Amino acid sequence: MPLSCIDLSPRMGSEVKITKSELMSGRRASEIRALLDQRGILLFRGLAPDDSELRAIARTLGDLRIGAAKRTADGKTLTEGEEGILKVSLDETVNPEYARFLIGNHLWHMDGTYEEIPPLATLFTPFRLSKTGGDTMFANTYAAFDDLPDGEKAELEKLRVVHTMQAALFPAKRDCTPEEFAVWYSYPQRLHPLVWHHRSGRKSLVLSTSGAYVEGMHPAESHDLLQRLMAHATQEKYTYRHKWRMGDLVIWDNTGAMHRVMPFDRESGREFHRATLNGEESVTATSDRLVPASIRVSA
Ligand code: SIN
Repeated sequence: MPLSCIDLSPRMGSEVKITKSELMSGRRASEIRALLDQRGILLFRGLAPDDSELRAIARTLGDLRIGAAKRTADGKTLTEGEEGILKVSLDETVNPEYARFLIGNHLWHMDGTYEEIPPLATLFTPFRLSKTGGDTMFANTYAAFDDLPDGEKAELEKLRVVHTMQAALFPAKRDCTPEEFAVWYSYPQRLHPLVWHHRSGRKSLVLSTSGAYVEGMHPAESHDLLQRLMAHATQEKYTYRHKWRMGDLVIWDNTGAMHRVMPFDRESGREFHRATLNGEESVTATSDRLVPASIRVSA
């Protein structure tokens, strides 16, 4: 029997009707992976997975991230939560190491653009919601690329973009201290092609607020191009806005979609638990290029 699903918006997102035990069994894992690739985000209502169930579901779909994801300026390693579960909260008592990096979540982004192989997908479930705001938005970067004129696609395929932590975070905290900026600056800066040629044969835009500049392009032209593409890719027709209910589980494809959280009450205690699946393909063979510190340009 095919998976029972309903489209959430024309170009992005499907709600999948499946029981928690069937999802955890892994019997439908290959169909779920294929649907995730096609629809960008999958919603499962009423599952309310606890941490061990979230890990178990993640493991049916891919390689659960356990190890280090970030390193601070003083060489300290930040691990991806306890045994693969990261608590996403602005409250530093809930997640003292990560809360200060989450300010950038309000801006459109892909996760892990500093990594050679960006994460494949995220599993996300609420533990506490804000009474106001806090919806999560998603934008389909396959569809945004597909709709561009052929000539423009060919031009964009020649370009590469430098992704930096300071480009990702500075717009969210323009009153940062010099010390904060120095920590952001200490992160690896990664050069990725602007267009991802996936091994499936599909192509998507590699867009994120972390995209600081286009390699070799005049800074003004580069800024205009990245802004214009961001505006293009986040038009309503490419996006889905998710209004959370307790019990929801959402899985998003990090390789063909951007996401952002809408403003919410910082004192609300909004808290989600997240499991991340490690990536399975680099954006291209050239993505392993780190940008040497000597030629870095700040955002
Ligand atoms: C994220 O940007 O990774 C989290 C989005 C959210 O908190 O809704």
